[in-house]
Amino acid sequence: MIKIFKLKNIISIKDFERSDIDYILDEASKLEDIAKSKELSDELKGKILGLMFFEPSTRTRMSFETAMKRLDGECIGFENSGSSSVSKGESIADTAKMFEGYSDALVIRHELEGVSKFISDIVDVPVINAGDGAGQHPTQTLLDLYTIKKEIGSIDNLKIALIGDLKFGRTVHSLANALGLYDNVELYFVSPNELKMPQEILHDLDQMKMSYTEVSKIDEIIDKVNILYVTRIQKERFGDINDYIQIKGAYIINEKMLKGKDLIVMHPLPRIDEIDSDVDNTKYNKYFAQAENAVPVRMAILKTLIKNNPK
Ligand code: NCD
Repeated sequence: MIKIFKLKNIISIKDFERSDIDYILDEASKLEDIAKSKELSDELKGKILGLMFFEPSTRTRMSFETAMKRLDGECIGFENSGSSSVSKGESIADTAKMFEGYSDALVIRHELEGVSKFISDIVDVPVINAGDGAGQHPTQTLLDLYTIKKEIGSIDNLKIALIGDLKFGRTVHSLANALGLYDNVELYFVSPNELKMPQEILHDLDQMKMSYTEVSKIDEIIDKVNILYVTRIQKERFGDINDYIQIKGAYIINEKMLKGKDLIVMHPLPRIDEIDSDVDNTKYNKYFAQAENAVPVRMAILKTLIKNNPK
């Protein structure tokens, strides 16, 4: 059977079928050696990636850049709106149109939900959502799934706890939606009452007949799960900083809690205090491997979208 990837843009993980996810994960594993620079590739020679980062980023931006460079392509762009003409009052639409003229695909991060979708409607090159406010972060989910498959062998039949800021955390929104495509996955949502998973996502999971349980304490689930997926409380999305101060430090994972357990710890990073550094040198730590896996996965995404949609 010939496998194809039919999406032109990566805006929401909800646009994916399981076969689309499998396609990217398979491509990524074929590109691992190049990602680690054991081999060379010129797959995207002469191509240019436009990076429009209106919100801060370390891993996402750097791994997209690394991915493009490993495929012999180049990157242009800005790291914050202050260094683009948006700060002079140019509209996002005009800025995106300029980038379309200069590049073969666009990667966009913005604090408002829906901005990547809006841009994908007005440009002809592929658009990749690298995080839109508290909405979605689909490429993070692809690398999360890649990491799960690599570390555990399969994404089916797992019990996974998503912990922390489930209200504003876009990585857990995309991940929960994606896990609904897999068989016999049980989700546990661990959060303070104020930061519960949005109703909209629970509704999606109900539609997909997905099993989930909402709890407020890690103790209730730690003996049941294969994965603790920990997230940062998203300080920048709180209207009132005092609400953040009340909640911060709600969950902290340390080595003592994990002793003797058969599970892995993941985190999209950056972490603040949710995972004690004493976990870093244990077998449980898969968050650094997860960050490294961003390169082959984003290589697979760029190669597929740019080759499938030549200018
Ligand atoms: C996440 C994000 O930007 O949503 N970071 C990332 O892309 N790895 C998580 C976060 O900022 O907490």
